[in-house]
Amino acid sequence: MKFSDFGKRFAGEIGIGELMDDLGDALVSDPAPLMLGGGNPAHIAEVQALFRSRMKDILSSAGEFERVIGNYDTPQGAKAFVGALADLFRDEFGWSIGPENIALTNGSQNAFFSLFNLFAGKFEGGHSKQILLPLAPEYIGYSEVGLEPNFFQANRPEIELLDDRLFKYRVDFDRLKMNDSIGAICFSRPTNPTGNVVTDDEVSRLREIANAQGIPLIIDNAYGTPFPNIIYTEAQPVWDENIVLCLSLSKFGLPSLRTGIVIAREEIIQVISRMTSVFSLAPGSLGPALALDLVKSGEITRVSNETVKPFYEEKANRAVAQLRREMGDHIPMRIHKPEGALFLWLWFEGLPISSQELYQRLKKKGVLVVSGHYFFPGMEEDNWDHKNQCIRVTYAQDEAVVKQGISLIAEEIRKVFA
Ligand SMILES: Cc1ncc(COP(=O)(O)O)c(C=O)c1O
Repeated sequence: MKFSDFGKRFAGEIGIGELMDDLGDALVSDPAPLMLGGGNPAHIAEVQALFRSRMKDILSSAGEFERVIGNYDTPQGAKAFVGALADLFRDEFGWSIGPENIALTNGSQNAFFSLFNLFAGKFEGGHSKQILLPLAPEYIGYSEVGLEPNFFQANRPEIELLDDRLFKYRVDFDRLKMNDSIGAICFSRPTNPTGNVVTDDEVSRLREIANAQGIPLIIDNAYGTPFPNIIYTEAQPVWDENIVLCLSLSKFGLPSLRTGIVIAREEIIQVISRMTSVFSLAPGSLGPALALDLVKSGEITRVSNETVKPFYEEKANRAVAQLRREMGDHIPMRIHKPEGALFLWLWFEGLPISSQELYQRLKKKGVLVVSGHYFFPGMEEDNWDHKNQCIRVTYAQDEAVVKQGISLIAEEIRKVFA
């Protein structure tokens, strides 16, 4: 069968496709591998109880269930939920936004497809623009969303070595090349895969650069504040008319209900809503219905601060302590300072095999991680060794799984460096 150029891209190897396949296979294989690879959030009992109770209310209130499942929302998304979100952001952060500044999408992954292709690709006059990722490594899910080739330009980071086998990536502003071929700047904060939180100072410099160039700054806040707020450092949330802020209900606990949230100036929201109407008619209604009360009451912020964030922070600390203990002192392992999200990013300087081979060996051993080389969209041409020396390890799973998985990783690494 002959596929179009567009189709061929999806028929070949795609990092995120492989990752999602591994995730799916892991769930059905026997014995199941230890899943330290995916980005699935944890099942936090308190959060799930809230949604169970809300679902019961929907089921028991006359006609509500039928309304939720039986009607399309508008392409912009459930009006009551959009209104409640606007109130929440006004109250929490004092931002001057209204419902006209918010659109829902079927997961924030969908929003990136729309946004990236809105600001990059072919423009009038035939010239092309790219999305600038100012701090690689960056989220694997961006890599194939561009409809044109050479869609991203990414920047090598500065590496700051810290005590206790930690390090932190910083934006290398000297390397950041700004010109008319950049259509937007985008970064995730906290960052998937590294758990980095781009500092307030870096954000304000990126904001200045974007403003000077007259292009939007897209901030992927999938793990950020006010929900799910999986951030272990101080980070000021920002929004203005030149910022496009993307959020999601996934990491709060509703990944299967595919609810993404875009906050942007009205003109952008209108186009995103139109795009949703073309791609999928409307965003799903169940996520907004389940989360409406939590957003209206502000509970979503409290639960994020008091339950979700400490849940993950504790898991991060435990995983870091175990890694330090089990790797032994002579292994050249450094961990990116865990500042948020669900991942540890491990760097093995001088790794004698590639991170992809390490992934294969670990898979044979029964533990799934993600090879770091996937996380450098826009840096395909860069032969930086570092790209093949890192792996991403998720600590969101049950304690026993994480513990056993880390032990197996340490065992294999000790062999590799023996
Ligand atoms: C940084 C980042 N952005 C966006 C997404 C997309 O999430 P969703 O489409 O579930 O909202 C993810 C999912 O893992 C992510 O890690």
